Amino acid sequence: MADDLFKAAREAMAKAYAPYSKFPVGAALRTEDGRVFSGANIEVASFPEGWCAETTALAHYVMGGGGRITEIAVVAEKMDRITPCGGCRQRLAEFATADTKLHLCDQTGVVETLTMAEILPLGFAGDTLK
Ligand code: THU
Repeated sequence: MADDLFKAAREAMAKAYAPYSKFPVGAALRTEDGRVFSGANIEVASFPEGWCAETTALAHYVMGGGGRITEIAVVAEKMDRITPCGGCRQRLAEFATADTKLHLCDQTGVVETLTMAEILPLGFAGDTLK
C-alpha cells in the first residue's frame, strides 16, 4: 500500500517548481477513507515566500475535506532518504496523529518508515491553546 503513496509523491515531485534550489520534493498523504492528496515544493524569487512539498499536500488535503491521516510519503530527487524540515513536521503534526506513518523514500520506493511521534517528539500541540 505504501508503494502507491510513494508513486503519488514521485508524480507530485515531477511538478515541483524549484528553479532556484533545483531540489524537487514530492509528498503524498492518505486519509483513512483512502483519499490521496499530494504536492510539490513551490519556490518564489523572494526566497522566504516559497514553501515545501508537504505544505502543498496539506493544502490539498484541507481543501479536499480533511480527515484522519494514516500515512505520508516524502521523496526528493537528490536525496536517498529525505526527512521533512522542522516547519513541515509541525504542519504535518497539526493534522496527523502520533501514530501516523511517515514513509521516507528514495527514487525507487520506501526506505524507512517512522511515526509522527518519532519525527516530532515533544512537539507543541494546539490543545495547549484551548
Ligand atoms: N523542501 C521541501 O519541499 N520539503 C522539505 O521537507 C525540505 C525542503 C524544499 C523547500 C525548497 O524548495 C527546497 O526543498 C530546498 O530547500
